[in-house]
Amino acid sequence: LAAAAEALRTHIRDIHDFPQPGVVFKDITPLLATPAAFSTVVGALSDTAEQLGATVVAGIEARGFLLAAPVADRIGAGIVPIRKQGKLPGRTVAESYALEYGTATLEIHDDAVGPGDRVLIVDDVLATGGTAAAASNLLRHGGAEVLGLAVLMELTFLAGRDRIPSLAVTALLEI
Ligand code: PRP
Ligand code: HPA
Repeated sequence: LAAAAEALRTHIRDIHDFPQPGVVFKDITPLLATPAAFSTVVGALSDTAEQLGATVVAGIEARGFLLAAPVADRIGAGIVPIRKQGKLPGRTVAESYALEYGTATLEIHDDAVGPGDRVLIVDDVLATGGTAAAASNLLRHGGAEVLGLAVLMELTFLAGRDRIPSLAVTALLEI
């Protein structure tokens, strides 16, 4: 975990006033563009997924997809996409939630998970926890066992963990 935290400290940059004034946005594009650092971080997330015994990795649009896919491939798990409203082609279940900067609706295919699936949710940032709460509700509604949430960064000042007390959170870096 220490190597992953260092990779994140070095390769994530602050963008002020994105997507709106007052927000300091944690931009992961330098990390994505640096193979060794990205590999270290994917390895740390994969270790977490393996230790928890995940059989499915749920990725949250959009940046969560970039992390969920390599993690799932490394541990031999399937990927389930949780997407913004209107993007999934099949029959869906939806849940709306509040963001640090607005509101949104997430959807999952109604047959994406079921009883017996052990799911780890993967995303780049835990901020207010609204996204993670909605994602875990959707997965549990489908009958899956949600093992927890693994993120690169937790913005601790937003107290997102308080909103998801039933989820075990692994954050590679706390900010
Ligand atoms: C960001 C981030 C998380 C979420 C965290 O995604 O990637 O998914 O917000 O915020 P929360 O803990 O307050 O819910 P965003 O909704 O900006 O979507 P995008 O990846 O499609 O840009
Ligand atoms: N970066 C990425 N996603 C986010 C952030 C951030 O700083 N805040 C809320 N969601």
